Amino acid sequence: MPRKINIAIDGYSSCGKGTLAKQLAKALNYLFIDTGAMYRAVTYALLENRIEISDQISIEKLLPQLEINFIYRPDENYNHTILNGVDIEDEIRSMEVSNLVSPVSKIDIVRSFLVRQQRKIGENKGVVMDGRDIGTVVFPDAELKIFMTAKPEIRARRRFEELRRNGDELVTFDEVLENLNSRDLQDSSRANSPLKPASDAKVLDNSFITRDEQFHISLEWALEKIN
Ligand code: DC
Repeated sequence: MPRKINIAIDGYSSCGKGTLAKQLAKALNYLFIDTGAMYRAVTYALLENRIEISDQISIEKLLPQLEINFIYRPDENYNHTILNGVDIEDEIRSMEVSNLVSPVSKIDIVRSFLVRQQRKIGENKGVVMDGRDIGTVVFPDAELKIFMTAKPEIRARRRFEELRRNGDELVTFDEVLENLNSRDLQDSSRANSPLKPASDAKVLDNSFITRDEQFHISLEWALEKIN
């Protein structure tokens, strides 16, 4: 019986972390968890409840009322994010949420609330989790840590095309690039759990390699750790 490991995938916005994490989870029969979706769900809840991000007291009151789950949709081969029983997958991918999620993810009580849940999910191993602080904070002892990166223009182009494919006809390339650069800067310069490669992470720059190539490279790394 091969041993189960945890795989941490961190990196800049729109690097394809989710795509790789999903492929690895499927190949290894592991659970895939998108922690960015959890920060987005909290951001959505703050917007819905008209709570300012500076209003620490209301945030503290709101957090215990939030139950975040994922439901796998086989027809789409995609996990939908569910907040208190309601599917909010489309809402959390909007530019409104994208523009507010980095400031929200700087809030200490939001981070500790979500990190606690993420650690619980990973305690029995067999998880592929993607985010910004998985290898450094959530699972510092993950057996495999991958840090993904790619040139900003290449990432923005991929994200822009995805938004257009999903029916967003108004979004512009410059808007996407600006959101991405701004999130990268905020995520890597914040005081609490900044985005940075763990010292033992394997760096994967996918600017000029295909999804298939990056999947095979990463699967090799995982199998080396498992066997
Ligand atoms: O992966 P994503 O782009 O959906 O993540 C949205 C934001 O959430 C990202 O800009 C920073 C924050 N985040 C974080 O701070 N820590 C994580 N583990 C995952 C996401």
